[in-house]
Amino acid sequence: MELEGKRVALGVTGGIAAYKSAELVRLLVKQGASVRVAMTEAATHFVTPTTFQALSGNRVFTDQWDTSVANGMAHINFSREADVLLIAPASADFLAKLANGLADDLLSTLTLARDCPLLVAPAMNRQMWSKPATQRNIATLIGDAVGVLGPASGDQACGEVGEGRMLEPAEILEELIARFQPEVLKGRKLLLTAGPTFEAIDPVRGITNLSSGKMGFAIARAAREAGAEVTLICGPVALPTPRGVTRIDITSALEMHAEVTQRAAMYDVFVGVAAVADYRPRIVSEQKSKKDGNPPPIIELVWNPDILAEVAALPHPPLCVGFAAETGNLAEYAEKKRRKKKIPLIVGNLITDGFGGDTNTLVFFDDNGQQILKPAPKLVLARQLITRIATLLENLHAPMTP
Ligand SMILES: Cc1cc2nc3c(=O)[nH]c(=O)nc-3n(C[C@H](O)[C@H](O)[C@H](O)COP(=O)(O)O)c2cc1C
Repeated sequence: MELEGKRVALGVTGGIAAYKSAELVRLLVKQGASVRVAMTEAATHFVTPTTFQALSGNRVFTDQWDTSVANGMAHINFSREADVLLIAPASADFLAKLANGLADDLLSTLTLARDCPLLVAPAMNRQMWSKPATQRNIATLIGDAVGVLGPASGDQACGEVGEGRMLEPAEILEELIARFQPEVLKGRKLLLTAGPTFEAIDPVRGITNLSSGKMGFAIARAAREAGAEVTLICGPVALPTPRGVTRIDITSALEMHAEVTQRAAMYDVFVGVAAVADYRPRIVSEQKSKKDGNPPPIIELVWNPDILAEVAALPHPPLCVGFAAETGNLAEYAEKKRRKKKIPLIVGNLITDGFGGDTNTLVFFDDNGQQILKPAPKLVLARQLITRIATLLENLHAPMTP
């Protein structure tokens, strides 16, 4: 559970997206957060307080003049007892109030009275979002260190298409979790590869492997949570891009090689997680080969370039981290790979149950020897790797200037 022990105060304002916040409460509670909800009067026209009360298991606040609150100051208690205040959806009206420090109802008053970080997830019609007044208010809020999540583009409840939709609850959750992680890679640029590659034999066939890309995607997410600017170059996988990560899709090892080598020198860190095919067919047939009574074809293979070794051999290489997935003799192979490629850190991954699971067993190999990590979900391991990388970087490299 990612939010175990965290206290989230959720403010709901008057927009159609208020119904999505009911799902958000469910997701927050599922991750272990305790959630308390306050609603504007307008919000109660869209979803009833009963819904939020049932989902959060806590009383919902709607009224500034509620005499049942012991000290009569729901606004002070609410923010005193929260680790973060999230307004979702945040209406255009409410953003205007926040930007100007107004406090004329319960939610705006408790927001002004808060003693914790504030995040807002704007949700409105595209015209409302694009108006100079709204944009001015958003700029003011960003200047006041308020975290602005989204909005996204797409179909709107009013039938129009454009920018202004609230982020999906799962995306808001991901952003919120990120805010609780230490920013150990702030100001750093991290490039990584993930997933398998696909080496074509003919237009419909090829050689690939069972890498799911999950470990690489978890590392991309963890690096972004830690404040890094992240570029993820990935082979064919069906995984959603972690929020805030720049993704470049490729198919073959040669394409991955080209994408990596043209940018590696501009990064502080390079992590090669992809299961890059060691070899590819020498000739790719232009036509689908037919079963025509002849013996099956013999496919001649040629080596693919060693992307990690090439990056490590640059005149001013980024900090290079490799992965070694092995089915046996992990320590021997991983350490051999580290020395051959001359890289400071190799992450060994003993494949016992095949690729593709959500948990993993990793071992770090570096100049100090080996460190075996406890089996854990991939995101947990990814965060441990990011912490290790941050320590290595501190000792080795000054940040890249943009
Ligand atoms: C059906 C309907 C949908 C609305 N949807 C939105 C919306 O998505 N975003 C928004 O900013 N305002 C929306 N409004 C307008 C707000 O409800 C209105 O500005 C209200 O005063 C906001 O109050 P609050 O900021 O105190 O919650 C909508 C109004 C109606 C009647």
